[in-house]
Amino acid sequence: QNVILVGAPMDAGKRRQGCRMGPDAYRVAGLEQALTDLGHQVSDIGNVSADPSDVPEHPHLVALPECIGWSSALSRAAQETAPNGLPIFMGGDHALSMGTVAGMAAHADGIGRPLFVLWLDAHSDFHTPDSTGSGNLHGTPVAYFTGQPGFNAFPPLAAPIPTDRVGMIGLRSVDPAERARLEQDRAMLADMRSIDEHGIKAPLIAFLDRVRAANGILHVSLDVDFLDPSIAPAVGTTVPGGATEREAHLAMELLHESGLVCSLDLVELNPFLDERGLTAKLMVDLAASLLGRRIFDRPTRSF
Ligand code: ARG
Ligand code: MN
Ligand code: MN
Ligand code: MN
Repeated sequence: QNVILVGAPMDAGKRRQGCRMGPDAYRVAGLEQALTDLGHQVSDIGNVSADPSDVPEHPHLVALPECIGWSSALSRAAQETAPNGLPIFMGGDHALSMGTVAGMAAHADGIGRPLFVLWLDAHSDFHTPDSTGSGNLHGTPVAYFTGQPGFNAFPPLAAPIPTDRVGMIGLRSVDPAERARLEQDRAMLADMRSIDEHGIKAPLIAFLDRVRAANGILHVSLDVDFLDPSIAPAVGTTVPGGATEREAHLAMELLHESGLVCSLDLVELNPFLDERGLTAKLMVDLAASLLGRRIFDRPTRSF
């Protein structure tokens, strides 16, 4: 398979800085080699930069013009790369998904297949510019690409994604305004409680069945804080009680076996907060599992 690494050093979706170093941390941690070793044709096209924007700064929203500039640039990057392989967007903070998902949705529309989005995150990132308390736009991408109101300053969506094509797994930090909207909504929600009860496989397989039944393709957005902070400390928004290394690998292996994944975001890695590259290396290993790395090739479940 062709895999295209796209650097997205976006650091504008919140105040704390450091995610701009993410793409280089993935490079240093050996992402390209790990995927090449699996037999893929991998190319690294370098880093995207934000488009200029003449929208004025906003009193509450952090770095609004820069976020808008990233959205259009990354939407274009997605539409340019997706026809040639599977793009991996090396973030950068989660506001970058406004652009990557918008671009992948336009691509999917062009080939006549519905785009589904799997959001692996402690947070639902379902604030609108009107409901966000923090003003941090990394808390808003799902609301944007599902066409919620309040995003008039942002690039218009070629193909908004209906919320019943969104699945969220790993939820454990949802603000009241997000919760109120999600309660009314049809996104598939798997919070940590449901993972504790049913494991991570059950909600994921149910969602993949939805994608397959609709002849869809799947964009995966992996936020570092989906993982437990004890194994993935390099993120500004740690929330205790996250996915274990084994749950995360299992999810990646199931995604690989589905054959449905068309694109991947690796977001919110802040190398400034990492411990000797631990988090960057784990994210590389997870990407490798998603692209087919496995312990054995033959089934090992019939003992
Ligand atoms: N809900 C919180 C906020 O609006 C946290 C968002 C965290 N998002 C993220 N991509 N890490 O500020
Ligand atoms: Mn997030
Ligand atoms: Mn998060
Ligand atoms: Mn908040």
